[in-house]
Amino acid sequence: RDYIQSSNLFKEFIYIDEVDSTNTYVKQNQQHFKNATVVYAERQTQGRGRLSRRWVDLEKGIKMSILLKLLLLDLEKIIPLTLFTGLVINRVLRKYGVNSFIKWSNDIYLNGKKICGILSELSGEVEGLGSIIIGIGINVNAKSVPEDIKDIATTLKAETSQDFDRTRLIIDILIEFERDLSNFDKYGFSYFRDEYKSFCINLGKEILINGERMLCRDIGENGELVCEKDGKIIEISSGEVTIRF
Ligand code: BTN
Repeated sequence: RDYIQSSNLFKEFIYIDEVDSTNTYVKQNQQHFKNATVVYAERQTQGRGRLSRRWVDLEKGIKMSILLKLLLLDLEKIIPLTLFTGLVINRVLRKYGVNSFIKWSNDIYLNGKKICGILSELSGEVEGLGSIIIGIGINVNAKSVPEDIKDIATTLKAETSQDFDRTRLIIDILIEFERDLSNFDKYGFSYFRDEYKSFCINLGKEILINGERMLCRDIGENGELVCEKDGKIIEISSGEVTIRF
């Protein structure tokens, strides 16, 4: 691929027809991979989602993992990298004219349903050498999603009646990711905070976190969700969020 050849960040693009999960594959084989590597699979048999959920394998989608090797595994710095990735994907989709939004922390929504999820996994020693595997699943050209998830998930094709060039989409995401990664490195999440906030669907809405109702007030400097409950401010840096429309 031309882009990978000219990239300063991505050194390898690995294409696999079928694998259990690109994240698992990268985790198990990362010692053989360069910084940075992208592993893409046409089909996943055991696609994984956040909180030990499964990631339903749709045809003609994008399922890939980005491996970044880190000189220093600094959790405070690295956790918002997932939010940055979601922001980048949202930005690319919007350039294509898709009216997508971000659901905190890193889901992409279109017309009230999920079209993209991100699962980041860290390995290594805290404050030592490490790596982050950023797994990205985008529902692209499948006509529909299975019955059991049709109320919560959709595809770009189902919502726009358009076919998307998946190669172009992947390359645009990687270009944008690479282009702004140095800003993330230098300034952290705060550099992207305004853009994130302008597309975040949670702001001003009630959300359920671990069964508790709260009002979502703001996105903090490091990407944490700032909520209000009974007049008290509560900051949430991870957890499951259910939006009440
Ligand atoms: C979520 O929203 O729960 C995260 C979904 C992440 C899915 C992607 S698909 C590529 C990579 N490999 C996996 O097994 N999961 C991620």
